[in-house]
Amino acid sequence: MNRFRAQRAGERRYDWPMPLRIAMIAAECEPWAKTGGLGDVVDALSRSLGRVPGATNGLVEVFLPRYRSVPVPAEVAGSRTIRVPDPLAPDGMTELTIVDIAANGYRLRLIDHPPAFDRDGMYGPPNGSDFSDNAWRFGLFCRAALETLRTEPETPVDILHLHDWHSGPAAIQRDAWLADDPILGRAAIVTTLHNLAYHGWTDRTDLRQLGLLPGGGVLPAAADGVDLIREAIIRAEMVNTVSPGFAREALVEPGGFGLSDALAAKGDRFVGILNGLDTTVWDPATDADLATTYSAGDLIGKTACRADLLERVGFDPADRGAVLGMIGRLDPQKGFDLLHDAAPRLLAGGARIVVEGSGHPELAGGFRAMAAADPDRVALIERFDRVMARKIYAGVDFFLMPSRFEPCGTGQMISLRYGTPPIVRRTGGLADSVIDELTRPGEGTGFAFDTARPESLAVACTAAIKMRAAEGAPWDALVARGMAADFDWDRDSAPRYAALYERAVAIRRA
Ligand code: GLC
Repeated sequence: MNRFRAQRAGERRYDWPMPLRIAMIAAECEPWAKTGGLGDVVDALSRSLGRVPGATNGLVEVFLPRYRSVPVPAEVAGSRTIRVPDPLAPDGMTELTIVDIAANGYRLRLIDHPPAFDRDGMYGPPNGSDFSDNAWRFGLFCRAALETLRTEPETPVDILHLHDWHSGPAAIQRDAWLADDPILGRAAIVTTLHNLAYHGWTDRTDLRQLGLLPGGGVLPAAADGVDLIREAIIRAEMVNTVSPGFAREALVEPGGFGLSDALAAKGDRFVGILNGLDTTVWDPATDADLATTYSAGDLIGKTACRADLLERVGFDPADRGAVLGMIGRLDPQKGFDLLHDAAPRLLAGGARIVVEGSGHPELAGGFRAMAAADPDRVALIERFDRVMARKIYAGVDFFLMPSRFEPCGTGQMISLRYGTPPIVRRTGGLADSVIDELTRPGEGTGFAFDTARPESLAVACTAAIKMRAAEGAPWDALVARGMAADFDWDRDSAPRYAALYERAVAIRRA
């Protein structure tokens, strides 16, 4: 059942046969709460779906925990209290508040329960560990979302769209306790996998946080715990991950992080959909955080952005040598260690390096030491600074994403749009979104390498730097192709989710 229509320029490509009510249940949603790409995608997809005339009747909503850091506006669209089953409450029930906010194109629904969410940190304390009661916190969050939807029968929810392990409890709850509910029983689950490395594993001894018991009807008696992301896969009508390339990798271990059997069992109910990029949020022609805006037709402003960035990080702006930038969680997944180890060679070749990110203390320490030893050539911005990040996307000459694995990745799409060719490892969504100039000369939008080794990164960087230094038409054409790459949510990604929803509904109602 494919509702894609032939597309003429500027015309929307799809048309939904029926209005669907879609409820996202997610641990992050930009700009309210975000630690990574998950937050961007939940927001941008929800907005894109909401823009489709008639498709959803404007009924896209996003359930989000009200963490301490969530800025609640003085004026909210509505607020009500509900009582929901709480496995740890003395009488088994807890009262919590649903705060509705009219977000930009969808309805944000905050689950407010201070004992669970009014803490320093979303998933754990700032030292990087997890809260020991995360199963309870996210279980209660999911149950509150389901109970809210259940008490709104006027427009029954059609799709429960779960994201990563945090919303896994909702899949268990629907099947275990709400399968016969007239509203939730007919709702289909779509699970989107953004990161398979985090499973939400809950030990046997912690199962009561979720209201589960081994042998209690949901889990086998011998269960040593529950894997929440696995449950979200098994119980979903449709499952997707955020690029076709990563979907293929995930079907074969170790690419599936122990889940490839569950994914393979879904058959054609497991697909890859490349994330979009929000081109209104990421546009060098309108970006107010840049020293000067610019566009593909007029790149003079990019030179000013480069000078502005280099001055800010203490580099010589007159030096034409290549500046390499990298932004993200300082995490081995992202390959920061590869850059760290390749750095001596790159620096010796005349390159300079700007890194922004925080996380892994050892990685941070390594870059800190490097920046202290060579402040004219290495800069570390050891925090997540949104404004600086934009200045880096615009101001550096190359953007690095040497990820070990990458379900999709956002930075490469942003840097393409900002006219900064990316250098990526050929994996997952990076391979799907960057065309490698080294293997497809004259067609490339960036540069790719295969092996997760510092030497391979250095070789790719060296080739890229050489091409830039030649300053000719091939280089300009590469930059232009990158800036023209189109990852628009409305045109491609959101219609694919629409098709996924339709299939999920059809499967559920069959
Ligand atoms: C996770 C993945 C990243 C993806 C993002 C949004 O952060 O690691 O590759 O882009 O989710 O889907």
